[in-house]
Amino acid sequence: MKLIGLVASGASSFQAPIIIYDQNEVDAKEEQFIVVSDYKRGINYLGVLRNVRRYEPFLQPYKRTSYVDNPSLVDSGTLPHSTGYVSIVGVISGGALLESTLPPNPGSKAYVVEDPSELKVSFESGLTIGSHKYSGLEIPLNPLWIPYHAAVVGATGTGKSRLVKALIDEALSKTNYTVIVFDHTGMDYVKYYPGEVIEASRIVMDPDLITNMVLRKTGLNPQYYESYVLMAVLYYILDYYNRAGELQSLTPRLIKDQPVKASGKSLTAEELIGSIDYGELLKIMAEQPVEWNRCLFKQQLDKAVRSLGGREGTVMRAKILTDVRLGDSFFNSLSKRDLHPADVVAKARESKLVVVDLSTEAMESRRYALASVVNELWRAIEEARTSINTVLVIDEAHNYACRYCGEAGEAVSRTSREGRKWGLGVILATQRIIDIDTDIRNNLNTWFFSKLQTPSDYEELRGYMDLAGISESSLSALGKREFYIAGLMNPLRVPVLIKVREVA
Ligand SMILES: Nc1ncnc2c1ncn2[C@@H]1O[C@H](COP(=O)(O)OP(=O)(O)OP(=O)(O)O)[C@@H](O)[C@H]1O
Ligand SMILES: [Mg+2]
Repeated sequence: MKLIGLVASGASSFQAPIIIYDQNEVDAKEEQFIVVSDYKRGINYLGVLRNVRRYEPFLQPYKRTSYVDNPSLVDSGTLPHSTGYVSIVGVISGGALLESTLPPNPGSKAYVVEDPSELKVSFESGLTIGSHKYSGLEIPLNPLWIPYHAAVVGATGTGKSRLVKALIDEALSKTNYTVIVFDHTGMDYVKYYPGEVIEASRIVMDPDLITNMVLRKTGLNPQYYESYVLMAVLYYILDYYNRAGELQSLTPRLIKDQPVKASGKSLTAEELIGSIDYGELLKIMAEQPVEWNRCLFKQQLDKAVRSLGGREGTVMRAKILTDVRLGDSFFNSLSKRDLHPADVVAKARESKLVVVDLSTEAMESRRYALASVVNELWRAIEEARTSINTVLVIDEAHNYACRYCGEAGEAVSRTSREGRKWGLGVILATQRIIDIDTDIRNNLNTWFFSKLQTPSDYEELRGYMDLAGISESSLSALGKREFYIAGLMNPLRVPVLIKVREVA
């Protein structure tokens, strides 16, 4: 350790002003670990150096001195000195860190920790994604707090996704958590775990989502057309199985209402639609994927509108917009979907990790894919009523955990509120804190933050935690891979600056 200064008067049990020796000015860098040795009382404190300032007794900006009239005076000498303060983390005692209750005595010596071996403190083992920027001390994160949720925030390119990758690897190797990653770009995680990837374009879509997508893409007024399109979608599905010669054998599974089931009579498509078991239908659609075709869909659209008493003009309009605005590519994208969301969960359980590649999907279906998998996890919890020790990783989370993110937002919100009881945690990575729904933000208990995208993000962060003197300007000076850790997983009681390990 290197002696750099001494404690000035005015210390409290959580903060001590430091006068820095002139010859050690270059050694006093903000965010370094400092040991304050109160030798009179035999107490050693650990803290972090913050807010280093340089002063001169006569060159005060608000006082008019003779330097103003005689600029050359400054050449005959000045008397500058540096100060800072130590944000106290705790008292070092018997290898542990205890709460600091006494302010350090003025005159106590302040030492910079230059090497991890100099610190006689041992932390409980945990997840290590990097080490303290200056001392190199590894900061183990307590995995107990995974189900209390975490956020990784920082401007574009600060290294959020790499940090999350390090967290995933640590969770996989050191805990019994299952990890489900939602890769928004398909570029951040897919390449690291090629054997564990599931394409979201294989996840079966329910008739409701297909209906909504048709309505949105065609621009047909949902108030008027929703029932027509939903009916057409259901007709299409039943007609597909009928043409494949499967409908009869599938009918008992498809009927929800027991009396209808028990009667055993053969049903028309309309009757069947009236008592359909949608949960079972989705399972069937994953087992025997429906092939979608534009021309055949138009036929079903025609049938649906007419059967519901729609007019000729309504039929024409729907068919034309299907041709013009949906085209074959839309119907191709609905086909070949052979995975039920429960299959994704099962695969995750089996191999401990699954990366859902969302990149090929439209935004609406990305959100659907995420929501359907998360809802499936909740179904599993409701059934088993036991902890499921699973962590969801959502990168570019402002697309899924926002106020207007629909089903996905609701699924993440529920997880953030109730997940802790069932060992279900979520890690959100985003550039924009402000776009995360406040309900969700309030339940994020560990924060990793770096240089931020906008000043308003700094204000947001400040609203969530005691930043212990970290200023906006010190955040903006951070380099790539440099993140503060704050909150429950941080073993220290003040935010600490780490350099994330190399993630190639
Ligand atoms: N821990 C790391 N190890 C090695 N390289 C890193 C690390 N962190 C960041 N980088 C470098 O910085 C680049 C950006 O990192 P990353 O993609 O993780 O940033 P990001 O914050 O997720 O950015 P975006 O907001 O664009 O998603 C990487 O391509 C890599 O070159
Ligand atoms: Mg990223």
